[in-house]
Amino acid sequence: MTGKQEVFHLLSELQKKSPEKYYSGEELAGLLHLSRNAIWKAVKALRSEGYGIEAVTNRGYRLHPVPTERIQQALTLNEYSLSEAVRENPFLSSFLLLPEADSTNRIGKELAVKGAPEGTLIIAKRQTMGRGRLSRSFFSPEGGIYMSILLRPTLPAERAVLLTTCAAVAVSRAIEKELPGISVQIKWVNDLFLQGKKICGILTEGELDLENGCFRYAVLGIGINVTAKPLSEELTPIVGFLSDAYTGEINQNKLVASVWREFSALYQNLSEASYMEEYKQRSCLLGKTVTVMSPENEYEAAAVDIDKEGHLIVKKDGQHILLQSGEVRVKPTENGEENEKE
Ligand code: BTN
Repeated sequence: MTGKQEVFHLLSELQKKSPEKYYSGEELAGLLHLSRNAIWKAVKALRSEGYGIEAVTNRGYRLHPVPTERIQQALTLNEYSLSEAVRENPFLSSFLLLPEADSTNRIGKELAVKGAPEGTLIIAKRQTMGRGRLSRSFFSPEGGIYMSILLRPTLPAERAVLLTTCAAVAVSRAIEKELPGISVQIKWVNDLFLQGKKICGILTEGELDLENGCFRYAVLGIGINVTAKPLSEELTPIVGFLSDAYTGEINQNKLVASVWREFSALYQNLSEASYMEEYKQRSCLLGKTVTVMSPENEYEAAAVDIDKEGHLIVKKDGQHILLQSGEVRVKPTENGEENEKE
C-alpha cells in the first residue's frame, strides 16, 4: 500500500472504534512507522483528492463522515476501497488501478517479462484495445471491470484450459455472492451469461518454456460488464450487463475482491480441478445441439459432457469427439430463439 492508502485505511479503522476522536500526526506516524512529514504529505494528497480529512491544531486528524456522493463513488472502482477490499488476500502481491489501459492483459504480459511476481493484479476502468479470444476485440467502456492477473503456474501447457475454467467458476461464484438472487451460466469455455446475454469474457494468454512444456507465466484477463451502456446494433442482442438483472447497489471493489478470493482458493489445487462438476452444472451448452466452428469446417453435434480436464465432448453421427479448445455456438431452438449468439 502507498502512504496515502495506509493513512486512509488507518484513519477509517480507528474511526470505526472511536468516531469522534482526533489522531495526531505523531500518533499516526508511530502506528504506521512513517515520519510525521510523510503523514502530513499523505493527508495533503488525500484532501486534494476530495477526501474529507479534518485537521485541528493541537488535536490532530479525523475523517469526515462519508457524504452520499462519496458512498456512490466508493461503489465504483477506486484505490482506497479496493485496497480495503483486497488487503485480506495474501495471494494478491500488488495491484495497479488505471483510469484507462489499452489492454490489461498486454500490461500483465509486459510486467511478467520484467519479472513481476505471481499475484500482480492490473485493473482498468476502461480499455481502448480490450482483447478477446480468437483475435476479437472486447468492448470495454467505463462502467465495467477489466482486470488481469499474473500467474506463474506449474502447469503443463496442455492443461491451460484449467486456468480459464477455474476463473469462470470463481467469477460466477463471486457475482452470485455479491449480487444475491443472480444466477450465472457458463458457455464453454470462457464466457459467462446472465439472462441469455454475455456479461463476462475470460482470456488466458501466456508464454511457454519449451524445455519443459510448462508456463513461464500466464496472464488471466477477466472483463465484466457491470453498468449498462449504449450498445451498437450488432452488440445489443449479444452483450448484457450485471445492472440489467440486478437492481441493487453493485460494489465493484467488493466484487473484484470476491473474484480473487474465490479464484485463489481454487487455484491452490488447480491440478485437481475439483470445481469441474460445478462448471458442468453451470454449463448452458450441455444437452443442446451446437455448431462447432473448427478451423477446417463447421458441423452440428450434441454437446454431451465436459470432462475433468475441461474439454467439451460432443457427439456427431454416433461418435464422441473431444474438443480441447475452440468455438461453439448454440443452435437456434425451434421457436426461433437463440440460446446465445457469441
Ligand atoms: C472473450 O470474450 O473472448 C475474452 C474477453 C477477455 C476480456 C478481458 S478484459 C481484461 C483483459 N484485458 C484484455 O484485453 N482482455 C481481457
